[in-house]
Amino acid sequence: MVRKLILNNFVKIFKMAKIILITGGAGFIGSHVVRLFVNKYPEYKIINLDKLTYAGNLENLNDISGKSNYVFEKGDITDNQLVSKLFEKHKFSGIIHLAAESHVDRSISDPGAFINTNILGTVNLLNAARNLWKDDFEGKLFYHISTDEVYGSLGETGYFTEETAYDPRSPYSASKASSDHLVRAYMHTYKLPVVLTNCSNNYGANQFPEKLIPLAVNNIKNNKQIPIYGKGENIRDWLFVNDHASAIDLVYHKGTNGETYNIGGNNEWTNIDLIHKLCEIMDEKLGRKKGESAKLITFVKDRAGHDMRYAIDSSKIQNELGWKPSLQFEEGLEKTVDWYLENETWLNNILTGKYEQYYEEQYHKR
Ligand code: NAD
Ligand code: TYD
Repeated sequence: MVRKLILNNFVKIFKMAKIILITGGAGFIGSHVVRLFVNKYPEYKIINLDKLTYAGNLENLNDISGKSNYVFEKGDITDNQLVSKLFEKHKFSGIIHLAAESHVDRSISDPGAFINTNILGTVNLLNAARNLWKDDFEGKLFYHISTDEVYGSLGETGYFTEETAYDPRSPYSASKASSDHLVRAYMHTYKLPVVLTNCSNNYGANQFPEKLIPLAVNNIKNNKQIPIYGKGENIRDWLFVNDHASAIDLVYHKGTNGETYNIGGNNEWTNIDLIHKLCEIMDEKLGRKKGESAKLITFVKDRAGHDMRYAIDSSKIQNELGWKPSLQFEEGLEKTVDWYLENETWLNNILTGKYEQYYEEQYHKR
């Protein structure tokens, strides 16, 4: 009797155990997703495949790198042979695909890398999933992480819903839109089980200081000018990265096959208002006189094709899956600033010669 019980439980645990490939797990959002899955699901095996481009950083995962349910594999998602071998070796039951070239400004100066990784890399993973799973899709899932930027740019009113027509306008968003279409095409054509989410701008710990918030924090700290594109009137909808990770967890486990869910913070800020708020927080944290950091604000030449406004209607994921953001923006922003100030070594290790070269090219020609 006892033996039967033990055996049944063993069978249950074995059935539940999942082997999940997370791509881009050494990046900003990916590292939060890897940490969440490794800690929350000790019975799962999490394999993190990352090329470690300039944006990938294993320091993001120091705290979990020794865990027995975590494996890191260095590699490029566009590498056919490597990806096939990995799928054969680990026999994944699920894929959470985050690896991408992710910065709009870089996509403007060098679109090629975006086409390779975001489009061809995604197709490579889709093919590997089909080959491994054949037609037995029971318990399998290909989860593609995408962006609200695929929907284009809003005017003063309206929101992006899951029904909004795609209208990407930068090489980055066009490459993401293309990968979204391919994922859906594999679902329709081959019945591959897929789910997609399109999320708004994330902020939080471990974001590479090329994106607005960590770049501004770093510049304020070092008394460098804060470059604001155009008049700073563009609007973004900001979401705390840990809330994105919790949405990914929920969608992975409870999302409906074939569906898309929009994820957003319901938290719109013009860039200039956001930077003023950040300057206020930094003045306080750095013991500066009120208004001191804001003197660093500098308006620079606008980004080419700069999308005016993004805003997400996230009622579908809220109503169907019960997700909602956990933090108010000011609290999240303060936590973020604290993290960057407390993790000087993380930041300093990034600010190497290569970062300086990027910064020179990106900002000193403006
Ligand atoms: P990131 O640039 O911080 O990280 C990307 C990671 O992918 C890095 O670790 C990098 O080394 C890895 N990578 C890049 N090319 C690779 C390749 N060819 N093979 C294997 N690994 C490769 O990006 P992020 O901000 O964490 O974004 C992650 C995902 O979320 C992306 O798909 C992005 O489009 C999407 N997304 C981002 C945001 C945001 O605000 N950052 C919002 C919505 C959606
Ligand atoms: P970014 O963080 O690059 O995210 P995305 O382009 O994906 O929205 O930029 C956020 C906003 O901040 C966007 O409107 C461009 C603007 N921006 C600046 O004004 N100055 C900067 O130095 C950067 C990097 C961005």
